[in-house]
Amino acid sequence: MKLLYTPLLFIFYSTISFGQNTIAISANKGVTKINKHIYGHFSEHLGRCIYGGFYVGENNTSIKNNQGIRLDVVDALKKLKIPNLRWPGGCFADTYHWKDGVGPKEKRPTIVNTWWGGVTEDNSYGTHNFLNMCELLGTEPYLSANVGSGTVQEVAEWIQYTTFGGVSPMSLWRKENGREKPWKVKYWGVGNEAWGCGGNMRPEHYADIYRQYATFMTGWDNADKIFRIASGANSSDYNWTEVLMRDIPHNMLEGVALHHYSVIDWNKKSSATGFTEEEYFVTMQRALQMEELIQKHTAIMDKYDPGKKIALVVDEWGGWYDVEQGTNPGFLFQQNTMRDAMIAGVTLNIFQNHADRVRMANLAQTINVLQAVILTKEEKMILTPTYHVMEMYNVHQYATLLPLQLQSNDYSFGKDKLKNVSASASIDANGAIHITLVNINAKESQDVSIAIEQTKPGSKNLTGRILTSEKLQDYNTFENPVKIVPKNYTGASLTGNGIKAKLPPFSVVVLTLN
Ligand code: AHR
Repeated sequence: MKLLYTPLLFIFYSTISFGQNTIAISANKGVTKINKHIYGHFSEHLGRCIYGGFYVGENNTSIKNNQGIRLDVVDALKKLKIPNLRWPGGCFADTYHWKDGVGPKEKRPTIVNTWWGGVTEDNSYGTHNFLNMCELLGTEPYLSANVGSGTVQEVAEWIQYTTFGGVSPMSLWRKENGREKPWKVKYWGVGNEAWGCGGNMRPEHYADIYRQYATFMTGWDNADKIFRIASGANSSDYNWTEVLMRDIPHNMLEGVALHHYSVIDWNKKSSATGFTEEEYFVTMQRALQMEELIQKHTAIMDKYDPGKKIALVVDEWGGWYDVEQGTNPGFLFQQNTMRDAMIAGVTLNIFQNHADRVRMANLAQTINVLQAVILTKEEKMILTPTYHVMEMYNVHQYATLLPLQLQSNDYSFGKDKLKNVSASASIDANGAIHITLVNINAKESQDVSIAIEQTKPGSKNLTGRILTSEKLQDYNTFENPVKIVPKNYTGASLTGNGIKAKLPPFSVVVLTLN
């Protein structure tokens, strides 16, 4: 606060008049790089995420593919610049035995996907398919190892199989199966939701199990590169994080996970498309709770790890609604509206504003499941509003976070209040400033006044893009796939010391100043 009294900053902060939407950005004070891995995705053997989503089989002649991987999907995800992809779960991961999914397909066992619809899993998509696909996508794989029903040896052998360049039983088997060179696999999840589907463990028990697994996860070519992620807390289970940070030696731990879904009520979700404003408001309350969750989990981590060596990895987040009528309840297939664009916009702003601790995250899930960025229907593919938000925000990947102060009007519903405006800003390697803004208000536009403090001569070229629609409940369909797409934004202009902008109701805007 002492800084507020220096003359330059006095002028800067005096431009903020309280009661309006105002943002003050310190363009010269960026320290923290935004980790591109905040923009990660998640693909589970669940519903039509893998089968029909990413993978249509090597013999498919009606959908263009490379070794069974849909090329329309590859193209779309490359445009997003997806930095990492988590696989094979989720709850499925703790039932998955990787050896079932390598070698000649006709010899692979058929299993039952007990978590997701009880469907037959023929293991035709396995480790080679996933890791080759990641190379095609130019993305880093994040493998979730089976702790709940697997063994330490199984995980150690998976690491040996995928990453070891020398001569060993597993690396020879990999070569026999057609892959000479090892893949690069840095990110490893040590189980998933160990407090629930991953084994219903107490944190003390999981911490001990984690130590055992983590011990045998090094020693291969990955020794100094491996990034082990402990199965993290369910939303506000702060005790989980406390115990993990206390009981796991920090030289065995690179990341601690956190899962949080924007769900109204687990027993009474809401329709993905036919929701009321009240349901929208509550969904946004849940999404904005991410701010408090990150603050509180971070405070615990800071107590044990003040140097912020260990990352907070939000490896499952997104909106969760009722499945679409007539679809398998175990497949979690839901449409994606402007409500989802709002969730994505505010959540990514929150992650960025905490980029010193949040260094990885995974939206759940990439295709046809929960808050998907892509939906497919046989040979057709559409991009959702969430896809467009991820694409608009990718200008922040590996830019430097700019600290900002935000003063927002309230969005009131009944007795409850939320802040209308959410924001985040960064400066990239070329000196361009990117500002992402969200107005979550369902009915009212918001005027925002942005003051940019910079000692260098100010930038003069302002451009913008916007994502919005006529109705909050609008979505893209296979018949009209471009109903919601980003458009040029003309609602902002330069002022003496910054920018003024008018944000329409439920809109996401990205501004670039260079
Ligand atoms: O993303 C769907 C499921 O949600 C995951 O399998 C599980 O980890 C979480 O409960």
